Amino acid sequence: MAATTGRSCLQYLIHLAQDNLDFRLPEIKSLLALRGKPFRPCENYKEKTPFWVLGELCEEDVHGIMTRSVCAKSAFELWGHGKTHCELKTSLLKYPKENMSPYTQKDSTYRINVYTFNKTLEFKDRIERIDALDYLSFDGTVNLKTPQHTFCLLEDYGTDPNNIPDQPLYVYFGRWIADGQRELIRSYSVKNRHFIGNTSMEACLSFIMANHAGVKKNDLVFDPFVGTGSLLIACSHFGAYVCGTDIDYNTIHGKGRSSRTNQKWRGPDENIRANLRQYGKEMTYVDVMVSDASKRIWRTGLHFDAIITDPPYGIRESTRRTGSHKDVTKPPEDYFGESHVPVSMAYHLSDIFADLLTFAAHHLVMGGRLVYWLPVHSPEYCDEMVPLHPCLKMISNSEQTLSSHTSRRLITMEKFKEPEESDALVDMSEPCYSPYQGHNAFREKYFSGVNKRGLKEEEDKMHINGV
Ligand SMILES: C[S@@+](CC[C@H](N)C(=O)[O-])C[C@H]1O[C@@H](n2cnc3c(N)ncnc32)[C@H](O)[C@@H]1O
Repeated sequence: MAATTGRSCLQYLIHLAQDNLDFRLPEIKSLLALRGKPFRPCENYKEKTPFWVLGELCEEDVHGIMTRSVCAKSAFELWGHGKTHCELKTSLLKYPKENMSPYTQKDSTYRINVYTFNKTLEFKDRIERIDALDYLSFDGTVNLKTPQHTFCLLEDYGTDPNNIPDQPLYVYFGRWIADGQRELIRSYSVKNRHFIGNTSMEACLSFIMANHAGVKKNDLVFDPFVGTGSLLIACSHFGAYVCGTDIDYNTIHGKGRSSRTNQKWRGPDENIRANLRQYGKEMTYVDVMVSDASKRIWRTGLHFDAIITDPPYGIRESTRRTGSHKDVTKPPEDYFGESHVPVSMAYHLSDIFADLLTFAAHHLVMGGRLVYWLPVHSPEYCDEMVPLHPCLKMISNSEQTLSSHTSRRLITMEKFKEPEESDALVDMSEPCYSPYQGHNAFREKYFSGVNKRGLKEEEDKMHINGV
């Protein structure tokens, strides 16, 4: 039953989308952390369910979360709840009248919605549900189009579509406060984006990454494997200044072959700056440049508020870095001609992650976050495989399943200590890190049993298809 004895101990009901399940908790926790608030779920909390009841918050906190979250659909001030409608009634009648009265006054307008999860109710049943709430003293006037206050009766019929109970498993009633930002998934869809590539990150995951990183207004955010800048776009939406690097000249300069099926070459102005312009965020564009992430190009003392990236792991893009396996003959000292030979060599996964964590330890502000994807061969995954660094603490590790034997994990780490000379990356040659150390062996397993068609499906799940 709701323990609602006054405005100071209000509870809030968050209705979450039932996709990207593993990413929801770190998203909500990160958004609460931005407001200096803890995550305090109330009784009956289950992580994978569509409804969470949270305490120790104020309405402003809830608004703050909902202006950012792409995992949350709506939020309500919870007035009552229970396992049955009878329990709901008892709970609602106990709810302090002084909490309700600002919203039930005679001169106010209101409407009541009925929402059911995992069941569709007929119109007459909905009306019946609303009529059954007549024990609540709403003195205002019903206004279905533009009510001042919206209330909602929510019925939860569980998460199994093959086993829908006759009666709801749980019911809630509350005052609607705000909707989340699910609309961003459509309005920032890569399908309508000016500049895209084969591995452009989908909008929903890009926003989730920006939220896990706790990116906020005026932050400086860096993506060392920037590609077409999808992650920068999400960060710029939240008011951050953005910059990035990529080894691929054509990607950075918006040249070369187009990823669109009906277009051979990229058109003029197909680049990251133009993408930001498309969303009215050009003023947040710092710059992007061609650079190899394995090279130390940044001056000491330069700090980013967040580093957020999707490193290459050789599915659509190759994992290359500049350099050569051959012995490079040094030119004689008196030779002043062009000595640069543009060659490249394999960039092993273990080195990519080692370099990324070391870079983050040196170039994040204290408390700044690194958010990146780690490919995983699921049958042999264990948490110990995730690379560590003595200056970075693990905040979250969420899985996105891609196939029966592959997944990728979204890793969020936070810098809590400045690196010292002795702070090398935890030795990745230790047996537990072998998956990434044995780069080719890992890739062989990762793509095992994937025929040409399967590989394409695999790629499409991981990144967008060429649109
Ligand atoms: C998975 S894609 C990133 C996609 C990007 N998030 C987007 O939305 O378009 C990885 C990128 O890393 C780049 N890359 C590969 N090796 C690199 C290196 N050594 N240094 C910097 N960038 C590299 C590739 O050119 C590719 O654009």
